[in-house]
Amino acid sequence: MKIVGINTSPRPKSNSRIALVKALETAEAKGADVEIFDLNLMDIRTCQADDYCVEHDGQCALDDDMQKIYSEIKDAYGIILATPIYMGNVSSLAKVFIDRMHAVLHAIDSYGIRGKKFSVIASQAAVDPPMYEYIKHNLETTVDIFRGIGFDVEDVVLLIGNAREEAILDKGNQLDKAVMVGNKIVR
Ligand SMILES: Cc1cc2nc3c(=O)[nH]c(=O)nc-3n(C[C@H](O)[C@H](O)[C@H](O)COP(=O)(O)O)c2cc1C
Repeated sequence: MKIVGINTSPRPKSNSRIALVKALETAEAKGADVEIFDLNLMDIRTCQADDYCVEHDGQCALDDDMQKIYSEIKDAYGIILATPIYMGNVSSLAKVFIDRMHAVLHAIDSYGIRGKKFSVIASQAAVDPPMYEYIKHNLETTVDIFRGIGFDVEDVVLLIGNAREEAILDKGNQLDKAVMVGNKIVR
C-alpha cells in the first residue's frame, strides 16, 4: 500500500509539510510505503493544453519530473496534497499539480483511479473566522476536482495561525489532525 505526499510549499520548515510528514509517518506505522515529492525542488512545468494526453491515454507530452509522479499515482493507494494558503487559495505549485491532473482525468482506468484516496492539508496565517470560511470553500472546490476525477476524498484539513515557519510544532491539536489524516488514508 503506497501513500504519496505532494508538498507544494517552498519553505524549508513549512507547516503544511511538517503536517504532511506526520501524516505519512502515521501511515507508514500502519504498514504503508510512503513517498514525498517536494514540488519546489522539482522541474514541473504548467500544463501546455496541447491535449496530447487526451489522444494518448493519459500520457503527458511534457518530459519533466511530473512523469515520476504520474507513475507513482498509478501505484498509489492514496495521495495527500499539502499546501500553504496564498492569497486565499492553494499555492501556485499546488495549482500546477492540479492542472497536470488533466492527463489523469482523461485516463482514469489506465491510472486505476477509482477507489484511490485523496486528502488535503492546508496551512494559513489568519485565525479570524471571516478569513478562513471562504478559504474552506476554496479548498472544497479543489477537492471537488479530485472527486470528479474519481478519487475518494477522505480529509480536507485547514490549519490556522501558522504565519511563522514551524509554528505548528507548538500546536498539539494540529499535529493530532495530521495523525488523523495519516490514519484515515490507510483505512
Ligand atoms: C504569497 C503569500 C500569500 C499568503 N496569503 C495568505 C492568505 O490569503 N491568508 C492567510 O491566512 N495567510 C496567507 N499567507 C500566510 C501563509 O498561508 C502561512 O504562513 C502558511 O502557514 C504557510 O504555510 P507553510 O508554512 O506550509 O508554507 C500568505 C503567505 C504568502 C507568502
